[in-house]
Amino acid sequence: MKHLLSAKDLTRTEAVEILDTAATMAQTQGREIKKLPALRGKTVVNLFYEDSTRTRISFEAAAKRLSADVINFSAKGSSVSKGESLKDTAQTLQAMGADAVVVRHSASGAPQQLATSGWINAGVVNAGDGTHQHPTQALLDAFTLRRHLVGEGNDGDAHGKDLAGVKITIVGDVVHSRVARSNIDLLTTLGARVTLVAPPTLLPARVDSWPVEVYYDLDVAIDQNPDAIIMLRVQAERMSTAGFFPSAHEYARLYGLDRNRVNRLGAKTAILHPGPMNRGIEISAYAADSSQAFITEQVTNGVAVRMAVLYLLLAGSTQEGVS
Ligand code: NCD
Repeated sequence: MKHLLSAKDLTRTEAVEILDTAATMAQTQGREIKKLPALRGKTVVNLFYEDSTRTRISFEAAAKRLSADVINFSAKGSSVSKGESLKDTAQTLQAMGADAVVVRHSASGAPQQLATSGWINAGVVNAGDGTHQHPTQALLDAFTLRRHLVGEGNDGDAHGKDLAGVKITIVGDVVHSRVARSNIDLLTTLGARVTLVAPPTLLPARVDSWPVEVYYDLDVAIDQNPDAIIMLRVQAERMSTAGFFPSAHEYARLYGLDRNRVNRLGAKTAILHPGPMNRGIEISAYAADSSQAFITEQVTNGVAVRMAVLYLLLAGSTQEGVS
């Protein structure tokens, strides 16, 4: 694997290999000394043109736990605010010897451009581009779901397993969500059955051609007994016009995971949210803080998954330096 640009590019075998490598990484993260020597001497640049809390910190922690040198670059406070182009910025990173560039950008396709333009030799990891893709989020969601739904058997091992037959419902602002697009790609590759729930205004026009079932009524979807429900953030910053829904209150009433709906979910249905949460809109505090919610565990798992991705990109597929 040279780059990770889209969840769509991953075969089942590749996806399972990343999840299995992440499981090995996760085991090392329970130790007192969490640092592994695997990427000593490598340089990872975090190139963030869009705001981020967890994804940037998670990639930074992942690279550092593998002993890589990390350079954090955020567009605010850099020459990007003086109008420097992606190309010139990329060439600066190249000149500094970056081995991997982790990029988040508001333009869909920016990581692809970086990877294929010939501006840099580094591996490119997409950390979220516009409304297009966020593959490491999909991988950490799949990792979390596999761990809790498919089970680690008696030996605590989920190695080699996928999500065949698992029912997953994704709710909310699908049209603006790179998390939803990446998850649909990866979850279906892993054999899961995906259902979307949203008002028609928050679904893309071409949803008919996606490999999903669509419901407009959350209560009807909950009656189908999903194994997991992924709540999406209402992405107000991507809504250039008003009118996607009448009001936040109305949205919460129709599409929010409130106390009543949590209590109607199966006792084992996992609740996920990529963060940041709008508590009281798409998810109630009751749901976010319930014992069925794996939202903070998603963050923990994100570090192991990003370690796996950086490792497979930069160190090849042998497990040297990981034990
Ligand atoms: C997501 C993102 O930025 O796409 N968050 C994240 O990476 N944890 C989802 C979101 O912002 O709603």
